[in-house]
Amino acid sequence: MQRLTNKQIILGITGGIAAYKSAELTRLLKTAGADVRVVMTASATEFITPLTLQALSGHPVHQHLLDPESEAGMGHIELAKWADLILIAPASANFIARMASGQGNDLLTTLCLATDAPICLAPAMNQAMWRDTGTQENVARLQQRAISIFGPGSGEQACGDTGPGRMLEPTELARLTANQFSSHSLTGKTVYITAGPTREALDPVRYISNHSSGKMGYALAEAAIEAGARVKLISGPVNLPAPARVDRVSVESAEEMLQASLKDIEQCDIFIAAAAVADYRPTAVAEHKIKKGSEEIMELHLVKNPDIVATVAGLEDKPFTVGFAAETQDVLAYARGKLERKKLDLIIANDVSRSDIGFNSDENAVTVISATEADTLPQASKRQLAVRLIERIAAQYQASLTTSDLTE
Ligand code: C5P
Repeated sequence: MQRLTNKQIILGITGGIAAYKSAELTRLLKTAGADVRVVMTASATEFITPLTLQALSGHPVHQHLLDPESEAGMGHIELAKWADLILIAPASANFIARMASGQGNDLLTTLCLATDAPICLAPAMNQAMWRDTGTQENVARLQQRAISIFGPGSGEQACGDTGPGRMLEPTELARLTANQFSSHSLTGKTVYITAGPTREALDPVRYISNHSSGKMGYALAEAAIEAGARVKLISGPVNLPAPARVDRVSVESAEEMLQASLKDIEQCDIFIAAAAVADYRPTAVAEHKIKKGSEEIMELHLVKNPDIVATVAGLEDKPFTVGFAAETQDVLAYARGKLERKKLDLIIANDVSRSDIGFNSDENAVTVISATEADTLPQASKRQLAVRLIERIAAQYQASLTTSDLTE
């Protein structure tokens, strides 16, 4: 549970008999080191008193959207920004429906709209309400928006029915919440990450490039920092601010990206190539702007760019090397081919033919492939996915050290 130390968590409580378990959940999150702010809907207060939650969390409970007193303390937007994670337990059928339709008609729904933090829901309701098509459709919509659904469990219900709809136990919810955060698996390690597109100049004003936003590489850099690593982010031109504590080196062309990648490479433990490097560049860069001529067709001569990740993987004392494979067909087969050809330790494959994930999207779904295994991580925000990917990469990196120790 170390992962919860100093994490800022909003615990949302909605109306349901399981709300009494939220008191224990608050205590567990606090004991694990989290700072917990409780937000209750009006119906939640019918089941458990705000005073109980205030005593357990150590902070006044937030209940109203437009309460001048609490807005003066910490306004709703400030609270939404404060959160590292929002956990709603129990989440009633009504709350799930309001959230699925994007409503912001009370404090808790408004916080969910205003936050950038991951949101997790622990549904709790009667088994027939859970099985209802409307509820299932709402849950599916929330999952598409990368909201995590914890449970529900199955068993005897307060109303006497038996079936799915029980809120998971507080210990299980605290464990699942902790898993949303990185463990400090990369403490003391140095990670190099390439990100974004490259620009290959034709003349002083024109270039060849691609649509990479850099979001995945930047999310990985943040997650690696969270995991305790020292991070050098070698970034092509993107519209993203440098994440805090990351050493960003801005480059334009593939050649510059290669040079920045090879600089002090002996210090690098893990190299992650998330950049969309242009495969070719113009054979020569015109000194002056190329003028439009009378000819209808213009020929460009291109030369292959160096393969950065393959160059790094080919070094004698190479770091643990991870590549990406963005494919539009036969995703896994092509990715496996690349893993072998480029001599990578891991490759992360994603299907860029889908418009809802991948390039320029905030979400992604990937398969992590090594020489022996393939493991699919479900669709999630790039930020959540990055945390999970860094955990996988760190685990495989550690395993590779153990293997090389055994063979030495
Ligand atoms: O061969 P392809 O471009 O599909 O391979 C993608 C992987 O190789 C990515 O990890 C990308 O960052 C890396 N790559 C590279 N240098 C290149 C081309 C790709 O590092 N010139």
